[in-house]
Amino acid sequence: TYVVTDNCIRCKYMDCVEVCPVDCFHELEAMLVIDPEACIDCGVCEPECPVEAIQRDGEDALGPWIAFAAEQAAHAPVITRKGEPPADAAKWEGRPGKFALVFG
Ligand code: SF4
Ligand code: F3S
Repeated sequence: TYVVTDNCIRCKYMDCVEVCPVDCFHELEAMLVIDPEACIDCGVCEPECPVEAIQRDGEDALGPWIAFAAEQAAHAPVITRKGEPPADAAKWEGRPGKFALVFG
């Protein structure tokens, strides 16, 4: 699976959603998640994210992100159209520790 990671939080640019052939992005208030059960590993979303928040599974460090995504995708609605990113998105780019700040 591909995985949305920390840098999406409060940036949420949504360029990723329109290219997914199987509609596996789900929308949370602060970020998007990919349903790991639905992702077919095509990889087309990865280069679309301007802040490089999407990574391919394969590193152990992504395990907690995949578990989080699976849990959240079960409740959050699917998103297939790019919406308006947060007004202050740019100021959150690359900020460390956003997950703890927003979900902690
Ligand atoms: Fe969708 Fe492909 Fe990205 Fe998986 S890798 S979320 S199937 S665009
Ligand atoms: Fe997030 Fe990047 Fe998509 S910021 S919403 S993963 S384009």
